[in-house]
Amino acid sequence: MRAVVLLSGRGSNMEALLRADLPVEFAAVISNQPDAEGLAVATSLGVAIAVVDHRQHDGREAFDTALAAEIDRHAPDLVILAGFMRVLTADFVRHYQGRMINIHPALLPAFPGLHTHARALAAGVRVHGCTVHFVTPEVDVGPIIVQAAVPVFQDDDEASLSARVLEQEHRIFPLAVRWYAEGRLDLRKDATVRVEGVAASASALISPPPDAG
Ligand code: GRF
Repeated sequence: MRAVVLLSGRGSNMEALLRADLPVEFAAVISNQPDAEGLAVATSLGVAIAVVDHRQHDGREAFDTALAAEIDRHAPDLVILAGFMRVLTADFVRHYQGRMINIHPALLPAFPGLHTHARALAAGVRVHGCTVHFVTPEVDVGPIIVQAAVPVFQDDDEASLSARVLEQEHRIFPLAVRWYAEGRLDLRKDATVRVEGVAASASALISPPPDAG
């Protein structure tokens, strides 16, 4: 299976994917930001990089057309959005329907959009987390593949909470990509998600825990 990763910044999720020993050929890492840290990381791990700078294109359609051309050059089976901070046009998203996934740092449908950790703290939620989902035209709304939940502690700040969530992002993103590569994951016509062969577990995360003093 061939995959292309899109990013805009640090690239820690991309790095987690590249290091996860997946049955995947990572054909390219593409950034809309020429100075994204993740590009150097990809290069150091031996993966080809490309930049499609949104500032060099007049409007969303022109940018998305150029981006799709760069992606399709690599003929990927899967397009992975790993901290890609551009809103994509509906035509672009439809072109990759069922073969483009994203990671979002919240338990969707709670906290779509930006600043999820600050908003989770402000809302006082006791459980927060991250979501891998198929991408659909509406931002952060696509069919959910896998989620991880973490407790929110009373002394958390944005940095401590985002670090706790990020650790789980680095676990569940490779998991979803592995399922896809193994043909165990797909988006059905009715927009539900099928994951084959996963073990059921009924354990619960209760936060704060019942035995807390
Ligand atoms: C992650 O929190 C991801 O969930 C969000 O953007 C951040 C990207 O971080 N979409 P990194 O570039 O993967 O380190």
